[in-house]
Amino acid sequence: MKKRHRLQLLIRVLVGISLTVPFLTIAQNNKTIERMGAVNTESFDQGWLYSRYGLQPDGTRVEEPKNLESTNQKDATWQKLNLPHDWAIAGPFRSDITGETGKLPWRGIGWYRKHFTVSADDQGKQIFVDFDGAMANAKIWLNGQYVGTWPYGYSSFRMDLTPYIKVGQENIIAVRLDTENWDSRWYPGAGIYRHVWLVKTNPVHVGHWGTYITTPEVTSKKATVKLAVTVDNQSDKKVNALVQTSFFELDINNKPTKKVTATKAVTVAINPNSNVVTETQTAVLNPKLWDIVAPNRYVAQTTVSINGKLVDSYNTPFGIRTIEFSATKGFLLNGKKVVINGTCNHHDLGALGAAINTSALRRQLKIQKEMGVNSLRTSHNPPAPELLELADQMGFLVWDEAFDNWKVGKKKNDYNKIYDEWHEKDLKALIHRDRNHPSVFIWSIGNEVPQQRDVEITKHLADIVKREDPTRPVSNGYNDPDASREAGAPVSLDLMGVNYFFSQQAKWEADPRYKDMPTLGSETASTVSSRGEYFFGNDYQNWQISSYDTAHPGWGCTPDEQFRTNAKFPKMLGEYVWTGFDYLGEPTPYNSDDTNLLNFRSDPSKVAELQKKLEEIKKKNPPSRSSYFGIIDLAGFPKDRFYSYQSQWKPELPMAHILPHWNWKERMDSITPVHVYTSGDTAELFLNGKSLGKKTKKQGVDFRLIWDDVKYVPGELKVVAYKNGKKWATDVVKTTGEASKLALSVDRNTIAADDVDFAFITVKVTDTAGLTVPRTHPLIEFSIEGAGEIVATDNGDATSFTPFQSHERNAFNGMALVIVKAKKGQKGKFTVVAKSNGLETGKVTVSVK
Ligand code: GAL
Repeated sequence: MKKRHRLQLLIRVLVGISLTVPFLTIAQNNKTIERMGAVNTESFDQGWLYSRYGLQPDGTRVEEPKNLESTNQKDATWQKLNLPHDWAIAGPFRSDITGETGKLPWRGIGWYRKHFTVSADDQGKQIFVDFDGAMANAKIWLNGQYVGTWPYGYSSFRMDLTPYIKVGQENIIAVRLDTENWDSRWYPGAGIYRHVWLVKTNPVHVGHWGTYITTPEVTSKKATVKLAVTVDNQSDKKVNALVQTSFFELDINNKPTKKVTATKAVTVAINPNSNVVTETQTAVLNPKLWDIVAPNRYVAQTTVSINGKLVDSYNTPFGIRTIEFSATKGFLLNGKKVVINGTCNHHDLGALGAAINTSALRRQLKIQKEMGVNSLRTSHNPPAPELLELADQMGFLVWDEAFDNWKVGKKKNDYNKIYDEWHEKDLKALIHRDRNHPSVFIWSIGNEVPQQRDVEITKHLADIVKREDPTRPVSNGYNDPDASREAGAPVSLDLMGVNYFFSQQAKWEADPRYKDMPTLGSETASTVSSRGEYFFGNDYQNWQISSYDTAHPGWGCTPDEQFRTNAKFPKMLGEYVWTGFDYLGEPTPYNSDDTNLLNFRSDPSKVAELQKKLEEIKKKNPPSRSSYFGIIDLAGFPKDRFYSYQSQWKPELPMAHILPHWNWKERMDSITPVHVYTSGDTAELFLNGKSLGKKTKKQGVDFRLIWDDVKYVPGELKVVAYKNGKKWATDVVKTTGEASKLALSVDRNTIAADDVDFAFITVKVTDTAGLTVPRTHPLIEFSIEGAGEIVATDNGDATSFTPFQSHERNAFNGMALVIVKAKKGQKGKFTVVAKSNGLETGKVTVSVK
């Protein structure tokens, strides 16, 4: 491993100089570990006050008063809330706002204030506030004094409050956010939308993201574990600090269990107001490796002592695994080849907006795991820390991405405005925060950046990444991969990321500059559809898109076409489909903005063609406010192609899936094609017991089986799939009876009474036999009894303007979703009731612990 360029010297043993410092009561370290960092970290999410200026939800403006940071500012009438908070998700949806950012009023100026006290015992301590992310252009004051700024809304950052804090008295922190001077190609959310933490340390402590663990040699018998610890001395005296780290296994509940090794204690001398990096090494015998099937982890518990007294204690969860990327062997995790079956995703959580919620994110990952997803691309920005924690825990590999543009923006007020001053700080923040996560296996410096052909900038950014973490490859997602490779820009990368355009792949595999460079489909498919909608002849109707999985924009393709490309280039490491979930904004092809023209930057005739289409669409003012790209809809319900990916990504799972539904009263005797996704190789389709023939996939060519000449008659469609001549899986689709009742089910029977653990309740409109009735959209009214609260509702319809907070919602093609939380501290249970005219009421009860 290359030595990192640091000014500080590595100092190992020095003479002791005594220092009197106040000591923390540092908890025993066998507690559940919530996050990497100082043990003395507490949530700072509760009890904020909020007020909005500038653009208001209805489009009017309220002038921003001066001195809102002042301690004299009256804030008693401000809205009381807890973080995370996304001020835009409350809407309303407005047809005059562009669909690209979700038709939600996210632009504005938001002020947050919090009154808090730190105990008199904290005298002499360092007090930090850590923001996981604040959208955007954050400026922070404490007690009226300016503390600092961090413009990029996706970066995590720390502010040192120490110089301004008043111990034993009330303090007021004020945060100003401004999304009026920020642009986005998707719904960015607005506000302090991630968690905030208060960290108290002694003046001598492990620095912010101050540990870096690498495992340069790993065998089944032994793993070498290298640890670099940055120790800050924020006192005005030189100190001798004893730094020591013990390593424990970490169980699935994030509790340290068995101790496996420890480093030798190292004494370091640190000058006043400076820091030192200590580097030590130890070995873990018979290491339990982290991988995507068994995500084993360890935790390093570092202590810093002065004169025998403990002054700081710091946790670093990590995993032991090897990663290897090769143009010939592919990607190897712990020596075994893994094909990357990935999805790209934006950060919003559908009806919850951008406000981070761990249970919502966990649900998204669980659904994707079921589909066979093994990797996630954090398109196109640093993710919430919770995403990496969950990826570590659940076994996902992460392509961790920094930017959507560099010096040249895709929009007016893009990252281009802050690139010069901030790109290095933002990149460092991403890498220092994330480099101990075993799930993170690729760094990405960008996505389709307008300057992708620029050799110098590419090298500059790649160099920063390699300096901060030389153990993972650096990549970039190219939508102009040919011109960029021609120009030589990717030469300084380790991995070539190709978005969509693989036409000249064979040429580059032979080019001496790139032949040893592994290639990845960093973005693929972009198939568009609406769950449960099937059209015949024209894929696009009523602002919806047919779910036959045949529609895609000019630059995209069907999943099948991409599988064929992958089969043609077996050296490619795999793909990241655009996207796993539908997201707020970018409702291509019903966009009313011109961002997607960027996809054809180099082809003027395509730009002109798209421009024309766009003008026509704009005139019609589409109601679409969320994407159609998801394999899974915004409410978390799988669309048909979920099963296409599952058939390829989980080939050992016996499965078959028929589409469309079989309720086509108006299509009597009309040709109604039937498609089947299966992990088998052959299938026979039956309509009302009569065989419509057996079909076999051509290896590498067919990824679905199609019966194109089926004439509709009501009844039962059944498919029997075979693999290697043996019966493998079946699926049945029946013509249903009339809608008769509402059936509710919940993703978990028990949730925690902590305000943040959410239950996801699926509502189905069914007939008397319990079959979900397609093409039904009844208005459903939701209510709740007991210890719960309805947080949001959704149905996956990209054109619905019903606010997500509404307790009334139409089903969309027979389904709806209710998101419920338990009231803090109120144990017991709650029952969600769903009512609709003419339908039997549905109920589900959830326990609260
Ligand atoms: C890509 C772009 C994504 C998204 C996608 C839609 O070119 O990187 O952010 O816009 O197109 O197909």
